[in-house]
Amino acid sequence: MTKQNDLRSWIEEADKLGEVRYVDGAHWVHEMGAITEIASEMDPMPAVLFNNIKDYPSGYRLITNTLASVRKVALTFGMPTNLSNREFVAAWREKAKSLRPIPPVTVKDGPLLENVIEGKDVDILKFPTPKWHEHDGGRYIGTGDMFITREPDEGWINIGTYRVMIHDEKSVGVHIAPAHHGSMHIRKALARNESVKVAISVGHHPAFLSVGSMEFPYGYCEYDFVGALQGAPVEVLQGPYTGLPMPANAEIVLEGEIVPGSVKFEGPFGEWTGYYASPPKEDPIVHIKTVLHRNDPIILGAPPVRPPAEHAVYRAFTRAARIWDALEAAGVPGVKGVWCHPAGGSRMLNIVAIEQKFAGHAKQAGLIAAQCQAAAYANRYTIVVDDDIDPTSTFQVLWALCTRTDPATTIEIITRAMRTTDDPMGPPDGSGGFASRAIIEACRPYEWIDKFPRISGPSLELKQEMHEKYGHVFEMQHR
Ligand SMILES: Cc1cc2nc3c(=O)[nH]c(=O)nc-3n(C[C@H](O)[C@H](O)[C@H](O)COP(=O)(O)O)c2cc1C
Repeated sequence: MTKQNDLRSWIEEADKLGEVRYVDGAHWVHEMGAITEIASEMDPMPAVLFNNIKDYPSGYRLITNTLASVRKVALTFGMPTNLSNREFVAAWREKAKSLRPIPPVTVKDGPLLENVIEGKDVDILKFPTPKWHEHDGGRYIGTGDMFITREPDEGWINIGTYRVMIHDEKSVGVHIAPAHHGSMHIRKALARNESVKVAISVGHHPAFLSVGSMEFPYGYCEYDFVGALQGAPVEVLQGPYTGLPMPANAEIVLEGEIVPGSVKFEGPFGEWTGYYASPPKEDPIVHIKTVLHRNDPIILGAPPVRPPAEHAVYRAFTRAARIWDALEAAGVPGVKGVWCHPAGGSRMLNIVAIEQKFAGHAKQAGLIAAQCQAAAYANRYTIVVDDDIDPTSTFQVLWALCTRTDPATTIEIITRAMRTTDDPMGPPDGSGGFASRAIIEACRPYEWIDKFPRISGPSLELKQEMHEKYGHVFEMQHR
């Protein structure tokens, strides 16, 4: 990310990489959602920019899948755009380690102030918000959003990506997991019978989406991380109604208030696992008081559609890097790669590649990878492979699973671990509870590792030589 890049400059850059498709005339009822899901089945997944949306003026746009490929994530994070998935995880780890937080600066002016609508003139239905899936409970304006709150006593600012459903032209509902920081801020104030002012940016540079959905420690302001990424403080305006900081070059920001006791049913919404796993429930209503937007605004959509999906692509990189960090911090040696498979929404199926150094090493790596903070919330399977296996290659991992496991002895089951309410295998009443985990050692057995059958087939060197000599005939690609 370069200095103060906004969503528009990001689209220009992504277009130069050939990463954007343009759709004209789609309907906001189901069509934009379905097109996004069809695009998500492509490899790599392109971003999709919708314009001339049914019932809306030309120029009122929405973009999805901005973080749906390694090249677009690289563009967003200011990294080289020619890396493989495996290389990117390692490169991102190095970059993340070198980043130092840079707090935002307040400015007086910015493109977001091009339109400021207040009071009775507020009408959030003026934006082309999709009804993403056929069975959703409403139109979700917040999917790739930044939900901005202030800690009521300590004053620090949190940004979280939480789903936001439109109730009517002047109110929305928000669904936040109790452990998430925005919920803690809101509940603290409401418990004292105080109203809470919040701001919701629904269009901005994709870095804000990625950072808003990264898990940082309580008390950490995500603006500082975006500042670190772009190498300069984020320029923020003070919201006219809330006083909350909002990016000066955001596309659309809704400012509102949550009042004690004001709740309404929110949901259901197709969630990241690919199911409607949690039933609708009463959630706080945000009464919108002010709307700020640029001319010809662009909503940033990131619907948590059934994988393959954007949310599972970019979070695979950042979560894999964090699990790798946790393994190293716990003293596990020889880690050569980590991957959070997008089929599991980058949470449920994690793979660790190690160079086995001692008996029990694979088990140690698997247990820690399954229970470290970055993974513990919702993983189901952790597979440990040898380092000749590329953990980002589904085929190689399945080959290791088929040829280097003995189900009776190499699968460890952990019981009574955490369960997410989004887990489709959870109790039908959405009550959550516990879930089990499987740690699978898909490695050559350490006790006779030297006697494990030699792998058949050409060596890498021979394959490379054949590729150079005959690649034009077979268009061979190394897996
Ligand atoms: C596309 C997308 C949608 C999300 N929707 C929600 C949501 O509706 N509610 C929620 O609590 N978390 C949601 N998350 C997860 C949070 O954004 C994530 O856990 C984040 O780290 C929470 O930030 P916080 O700890 O600062 O509250 C979503 C993540 C993504 C990528």
